[in-house]
Amino acid sequence: MQPDLTPDLAIQRARRDRVLEKMGAGVLVLATAPERIRNRDAHFPYRYDSHFHYLTAFPEPEAVLVLIAGGVGKREPRHILFCREKNMEREIWDGFRYGPEAAREIFQFDATFAYDKLDEELPRLLENQPALHYAIGFDTAWDARMLGWLNAVRTKARTGVGAPATLIDARAIIDEMRLIKDAHELALMRRAADISAAGHRAALRACKPGMGEWEIEAELLYQFRKGGCQAPAYTSIVAGGANACVLHYIGNDQPLHDGDLLLIDAAGEYHGYAADITRTFPVNGRFSPAQRDIYEIVLAAQLAAIEAVKPGNAWNAPHDAALRVLTQGMRDLKLLAGELDGLIELEAYKPFYMHKTGHWLGMDVHDVGEYKLNGEWRALQAGMTLTVEPGLYIRPSEEVPKAFWNIGIRIEDDIAVTADGCQVLTTAAPKSIADIEEVMAHGSRCD
Ligand code: GLY
Ligand code: MN
Ligand code: MN
Repeated sequence: MQPDLTPDLAIQRARRDRVLEKMGAGVLVLATAPERIRNRDAHFPYRYDSHFHYLTAFPEPEAVLVLIAGGVGKREPRHILFCREKNMEREIWDGFRYGPEAAREIFQFDATFAYDKLDEELPRLLENQPALHYAIGFDTAWDARMLGWLNAVRTKARTGVGAPATLIDARAIIDEMRLIKDAHELALMRRAADISAAGHRAALRACKPGMGEWEIEAELLYQFRKGGCQAPAYTSIVAGGANACVLHYIGNDQPLHDGDLLLIDAAGEYHGYAADITRTFPVNGRFSPAQRDIYEIVLAAQLAAIEAVKPGNAWNAPHDAALRVLTQGMRDLKLLAGELDGLIELEAYKPFYMHKTGHWLGMDVHDVGEYKLNGEWRALQAGMTLTVEPGLYIRPSEEVPKAFWNIGIRIEDDIAVTADGCQVLTTAAPKSIADIEEVMAHGSRCD
């Protein structure tokens, strides 16, 4: 049985209460994302703003959250939502809208207003507030509206009404909250990871020389959607052969050749939470000796990095652990010559490993949260979630034996920091050479 992962709207209300507590005083205004046109009158699939969703779970566009801080009981209402009115005509064409009344009850707001009352109501809500928290500079059109409302309050100065004198970036408080995942979020991330891993297993089973990258992408997307993900968490990378050395390759339109590797970086988003998985495997099901050599180095680096994910370790500890193993491996294969510490110091690995070993993961695939505090890498703590994704990318060059040319390998898992170490969320995607070759030859036992 699947756990019940439907939104528990008391969670969002409790998060808003925590924001109010951290604000101390003032008003917070946070809009969700606009709908975006793809071409002419066709839209991209709608995706809400992550901060807004974290605090409301309200799924519709044209919605604004307002929170009024200043001590319980001092100012009511404190949790306010602006959203679209019900509209039978539009609902026939575009689908259901909650409307302010139902939204107030269901999403646990103290008060709701129609979205088209923003110009009327918002200046009133800003009156006599010491500070305004909003996502300054995120959207220039929104900035202009916000300044317009501020100015509307300022025009009342002679009647004794004060306007907020301090502007604060609303994201500072919310980013830090989102960095530490609660049990509900971790459950959603586990589900996103499981569904995404099923996509990678399907890709392993399907892959044969002569197929196209797009056909493997179709296997992945089918599994993501079938498993219940609402969308891919990011544009899938399905990169055969030399394409794997292009870090952000998304063409996915080339044939897959016997003897090449296939690098897949793809995952789904489940109720707002991303997975982020990379696997690399041979198109024909068997690693060549040169591919095996490089793969074993990347895998050893990834395992060493995961070992370094534990509370109290610095953010950079997994990256440093991966760098040592990768650089030593490159020395062993004579891709680099020199003393290990010196090569690391000089960043001699950079032609073959040019990215970092991971990032925060959550509602956004590259999730929010500072990496340094006061100039120092921050310490990992339970509830943080991150990726560990070392790789090696070997472009043709005279200094490199030909057998290694165009080998691009990355292995990426999603990790939750726990009280005493970490948990890998994406173990269901095969990654040892033996497991990959077994699934490609005989299929996986878990499907
Ligand atoms: N898929 C994006 C990343 O791995 O960072
Ligand atoms: Mn990643
Ligand atoms: Mn990735």
